Amino acid sequence: MPEISAQLSAAGESVEIILEPETKRFIGRAAFADPASVVSSPTRRPEAILFAPATTTTLARLAHGLDGGPTDELYSGGLRPAFIAPDLEPETASHPAVVKNLRILREDGCVVVGESGFASVAEVSSAILGGLGGPLAGLRVVVTVGGTREIIDSVRFIGNRSSGKMGLAVAREARRLGAEVVVVAANVEVVDSGVEVHRVESVKELREATLRLVEGADALVMAAAVSDFTPAKVAESKIRRRDGMTLEMISTEDVLGEVRRRNPDLFVIGFAASHGDPRPDAREKLRSKGADLFVGNDISRPGTGFGADENEVYIVDDGAERFVPRASKAEVARAILDSMKTKMQKRGCG
Ligand code: CTP
Repeated sequence: MPEISAQLSAAGESVEIILEPETKRFIGRAAFADPASVVSSPTRRPEAILFAPATTTTLARLAHGLDGGPTDELYSGGLRPAFIAPDLEPETASHPAVVKNLRILREDGCVVVGESGFASVAEVSSAILGGLGGPLAGLRVVVTVGGTREIIDSVRFIGNRSSGKMGLAVAREARRLGAEVVVVAANVEVVDSGVEVHRVESVKELREATLRLVEGADALVMAAAVSDFTPAKVAESKIRRRDGMTLEMISTEDVLGEVRRRNPDLFVIGFAASHGDPRPDAREKLRSKGADLFVGNDISRPGTGFGADENEVYIVDDGAERFVPRASKAEVARAILDSMKTKMQKRGCG
């Protein structure tokens, strides 16, 4: 809950926490970023109510109108949307009484987050923000993350140093702000639950997946480091050391450019990593690839860029640019999504 409430507050919602009596044995005010948000009853009528983590007792109480606290009164008074985020072991989640209670709650108009009886922080906050019409609710956003690998022979590849952290931060934040998020993950291990994930390895696979998945999407965030070259020939077995090796490389297809040509209405964001001032390169690529925004960063600066937890970028638009001073990748992601939303709105207004 501290994390969920922090995410909802960061998205601009005002959050009040009511601790159940038993909860107080585990957690107190100090666990919340804003201890003043912990109240004994709501100070005004909320727009939505969340029960998290919802135990079997909470489920039974709500489903059958048993005696409860101040939030239960709001709930039984018909406050919707009501979100229920259970936190159950798999055996408990499949107990017939629990299954029945969850069904009753759904029939009563609740949103039960986490089909399997457990919901992650990302799933809960995006369900709520989506339900409240979060700033990106209703948008389907495809995010490519990580770095591609081009096969040389049966054991070797050419990769790059992208950790995928920036792209994953964009995916996570977009989800939290209510968007439906599809991730095309190139060689990235950890991807948050709550987003649809398609794993790819090479540029060819990334190209195919991206072209397919952007159909029906509103935006593409092309954060993956896509190899610019691929070996002209792939050896079927392992090339032996004694044979030596000279690699002939050919340029890959420009995925972003092709997506743009085929989907003129899609909102496309590209990334450009440069040595030194990233603005000229980002501006040039914005124009030549026909993207809507380009995010440029200077990879010669220590502590930002590849593998780092922070970044410092320029978000370049035709004519305008926004400087995002060094900040966590989550904050940089929010700035990128905010620029996207602002430009989409302007475009919508004609
Ligand atoms: N990109 C792409 N397909 C490629 C290479 C890059 O879609 N084959 C995308 C990247 O995901 C990124 C943007 O294009 O969002 C810019 O990548 P970059 O490598 O800087 O672009 P290039 O056109 O390859 O330019 P350069 O010659 O400077 O490498």
